[in-house]
Amino acid sequence: MFEKDRLVQPAWNDIFSKVTSFRQTLVIIAATELGYFDDVPRKEAIIDIAKRLKIDEQAAYVLINALVSLDLVQAKLGVYWTRPDICELFVPSSGRDIRFNILALKKEIEVWSNMAGIIRGECARDDSYSRELFDGGIEKFEGLGLLNRLDAEQMIPQILGYVPENAKILDMGGGEGYYAKRLIAATQADRVDILDIPTGFSISEKVNHEELKQGKVRHIIGDARTFAAPEAYEIVLANELTELFKKSDKRMIIDNAISCVKPGGHFVLTKFPLTIDGTGPGRFPIFSMRMLMKFEGAFLEPDEMLADWCRDAGLDLVHATEQNRTLMIFRKPQ
Ligand SMILES: C[S@@+](CC[C@H](N)C(=O)[O-])C[C@H]1O[C@@H](n2cnc3c(N)ncnc32)[C@H](O)[C@@H]1O
Repeated sequence: MFEKDRLVQPAWNDIFSKVTSFRQTLVIIAATELGYFDDVPRKEAIIDIAKRLKIDEQAAYVLINALVSLDLVQAKLGVYWTRPDICELFVPSSGRDIRFNILALKKEIEVWSNMAGIIRGECARDDSYSRELFDGGIEKFEGLGLLNRLDAEQMIPQILGYVPENAKILDMGGGEGYYAKRLIAATQADRVDILDIPTGFSISEKVNHEELKQGKVRHIIGDARTFAAPEAYEIVLANELTELFKKSDKRMIIDNAISCVKPGGHFVLTKFPLTIDGTGPGRFPIFSMRMLMKFEGAFLEPDEMLADWCRDAGLDLVHATEQNRTLMIFRKPQ
């Protein structure tokens, strides 16, 4: 009996280190909620932390030690401070503040606690969670904005060479307006049309204020699944859009995007990467669960699924890279 217990211990350790990882998450959420990270990079003794957070000293001691064990806080001779390289992520209004992102995970935890029920179809999804990044909501997620900017800045230089002079560009689901602004600034394109849902333009209205006045950027309300473009474009972009939809809707978006591309023009697709078998890389199979929890039937599709559909439609893959995101550029034959 004991020998068998000893043999299964590594399996127990493996499963329970994974199944209890929520404890780490919740310590970080609680510390954020209590305001521990509101005053970085201050160095404090436990008694000062307890006073500042208005909590019991013993509780402050336990909490801070847990944060030290997670390597988020450093300690020496009874003085504690947030690890210097993460302090920038807690500076208010820096465009990089992750506190809202961390607190928003409480909603994710609430919804994901019903995961089995949602998958069985017995529990409803939560609309506020599903739409947390829509309707300009992403603006509050400064940390996510930081990552999106980094990814966009890595991909935009790879797109520039495909944008001819006087090009007209369509950005499907581009309501944040980041790509539109950067492409207008960095190319000789005439105009970027952004297609998004009716509530999707609040950020672009601000960041593209001038470009909108000059007609360099236009907002088009519509649904990427059914949009019938009045004109064809030299470049059509779909950035991080297909993941929100079930398979048949993804196909509609791809076919629709392709129908908007002029012969000889290009279709630019960016997405989080997923291998053909759906099991990697890294965190992306779990990201796919996030899509399924947000929208019925939604999932992060393998890169190859979209590439196959584009090839079926007669397009050629002319450029592909995969770093944090997959970028695929397809050419529509003349
Ligand atoms: C995950 S965000 C991607 C934002 C941006 N393209 C980027 O890569 O950073 C998805 C965008 O798609 C928009 N969207 C959602 N459903 C849509 C639909 N049916 N048609 C067009 N846009 C849609 C959302 O409003 C949001 O702006």
